[in-house]
Amino acid sequence: MSVFRMTIGNPIPTQAIIHDEGFSAIENRPYVHALKDSVVLTLALEEGAPIWGLGQQLGGINKRGRVYGAYCTDDPHHTEDKTTLYGAHNFFVIGGKKPLGFYIDFPGRVQYDVAFTDPDQLSVTISGTSCTLYEIQEDTVKDVLIAFRKMIGKPYLPPKWALGYFQSRWGYASESDLLGVKAAFETNDLPLEGIYVDIDYMEAFKDFTIDTQRYPDFKGLNEMFQKDNQYLIPIIDAGVKIEPGYALYEEGLQHDYFVKNKEQAPYVAAVWPGHVHFPDFLKPEVRKWFGDWYQFLYDLGIRGIWNDMNEPAIFYDPETLEKAIDYATSLKGKALDIHSFFSLGDVFRNLSNQLTYYETMQHDYLGQTYSNDTLHNLYGYYMTQAAYEGLERINPDQRHLILSRASHVGMHRYGGIWTGDNASWWSHLALNVQMMPSLNMVGFLFTGADTGGFGGHCSGELLTRWLQVSVFTPLLRNHSAIGTRDQEPYQFGQRVLDHNREIMYVRYRLLPYLYSTMIMAWEYDTLMFKPLALEFDDDRVNTIEDQLLLGDELMIAPVVLPNQKGRMLYFPEDMTLIRLKKDQISLAPVTKGDHFVPYALDEVVCFLRRNKTIPIAKACQTSADLDTNHLTWVLGQNQAATFEWYDDDGQSQVTSPLVTTHVTISETDDFQASEKLCQSIVVKRPE
Ligand code: GLC
Repeated sequence: MSVFRMTIGNPIPTQAIIHDEGFSAIENRPYVHALKDSVVLTLALEEGAPIWGLGQQLGGINKRGRVYGAYCTDDPHHTEDKTTLYGAHNFFVIGGKKPLGFYIDFPGRVQYDVAFTDPDQLSVTISGTSCTLYEIQEDTVKDVLIAFRKMIGKPYLPPKWALGYFQSRWGYASESDLLGVKAAFETNDLPLEGIYVDIDYMEAFKDFTIDTQRYPDFKGLNEMFQKDNQYLIPIIDAGVKIEPGYALYEEGLQHDYFVKNKEQAPYVAAVWPGHVHFPDFLKPEVRKWFGDWYQFLYDLGIRGIWNDMNEPAIFYDPETLEKAIDYATSLKGKALDIHSFFSLGDVFRNLSNQLTYYETMQHDYLGQTYSNDTLHNLYGYYMTQAAYEGLERINPDQRHLILSRASHVGMHRYGGIWTGDNASWWSHLALNVQMMPSLNMVGFLFTGADTGGFGGHCSGELLTRWLQVSVFTPLLRNHSAIGTRDQEPYQFGQRVLDHNREIMYVRYRLLPYLYSTMIMAWEYDTLMFKPLALEFDDDRVNTIEDQLLLGDELMIAPVVLPNQKGRMLYFPEDMTLIRLKKDQISLAPVTKGDHFVPYALDEVVCFLRRNKTIPIAKACQTSADLDTNHLTWVLGQNQAATFEWYDDDGQSQVTSPLVTTHVTISETDDFQASEKLCQSIVVKRPE
């Protein structure tokens, strides 16, 4: 591995890179320009060379031709003109004959112009005069990706049950709503692993409280779910309500745990509960304190949590709101012209997440004071570390479900992420497919999008097509916003329900494969979802943005447009087409080249590569019912193949090197040769 490290100025440590043995220090590079207030990198691009990486971003798998930013932002409108989402992942690879990887270790704002202004140039603007730059030289893009993953350490691994089907909705208002959802899943014969419980369970949106009016017996409720091997995953927000007598607030104040303003008083902003203070998660003692509070939920039987609004999101700060109201008052009774009318709207529209708020917030980090904007991207990262370590202290032997909205490189060691407040738009379904490889590149394996879309109204067809994608992503959560059309699979009539049932059960049929593949990606520092260009040396695949490889065995190519009966796709080699339903598997050979493949709404379609085999389980209701002793093995276009299979109890800590089983399936096994199916091979795992 050839990694070069260049230290510019006096960088703020981020702990993103934890393995830096054998790196060569360099003094300078011609593409680095240290300016008065910033550092700029200008990199010449070979014509057509793809750019990979940047983690959670809008745009394609190949990043060329667009502008991007890295500054954790709560912006629920993921329209094409936006440049930043909730995560900051400053890693990219320039493909081509001599691939080159870069990681910019800098916790503030970074902007990328990737062959947008100048088609032959990539320029990066780092908003500060100090950073650490890593340059990774390897022979192949795949090796650059592995080298980077080794630098940042092994990802967080969720328990196996976290890969089940979860329902969620902001707006489930009470215990009876949750029980109603549980019952409806049963009545409609739908698998359900649990429910993510949104902010309404809290008393006045206060972290680590329960609204006992709506949830008179939260512990008992959780037990009702757990007896059916189902889990409740409550949300926790970054802001702590200012309310005398509220224990979390009082403790934070007493121990000086909150982020300060420039006068060294606790900084006041507003989020869901109204005025809040923000815990200064950058301090280890604050992480310990807040992390210990997860015990409150653990004692109620909770085994997974969901950290939110941790960019941190700010609706307004009181002074700015006051000024806005004064401005509006000053216009009262006046005939507003073009300028005053639009400026009035802008004043209120732009109240949230203003840069001045982040400039005002002061952190105490490693003994120094920094304003939030200079290390903004670390906040959600350290909140999630607090949760991970808190739960680890409570039960070190078990894996817990941990999900965060904001993230930074390095946070992948403590939790997964979802892709934030997407919308029920077909374009966001396509985006979900495109984002998966880049998220894996920066270490996030437990990830996925809000299935069906969070904002806006979903149609039955969109939900069905979305499930056909999410059935492959480790996080499978149907989540929607308050005020939108109900989005449970049974809300769209009998036909959609019947289709969704087939697909949701297929998720469980694929679970042995998906779980093993996720943990193999952890072990070998590889991607679970790969662009085709990383495996095939074929000009055609360089431009493919809507087909992916999943693990070493499958290709997926979902339908991401409405009113389709199927789609055209490119096969870079001969493959086996697999159609899966709850109780059916059908197979057909496909030859290299372009083909139209019909995709019905009640099935899952994927393609098995040559010389490969995968296990398919029987359909079941939860991961606890999964029978891994009776699997059907599907064999590709070959006489025999071996699968390196990982399985475990689904909850103990995983240690490297993994103990795996090599399952060899050949045509001489008890084989239905015509269909290339091998039924019920019993494989014993090593103890
Ligand atoms: C944020 C989250 C969303 C959640 C909502 C209410 O918008 O991203 O998932 O439903 O807050 O808590």
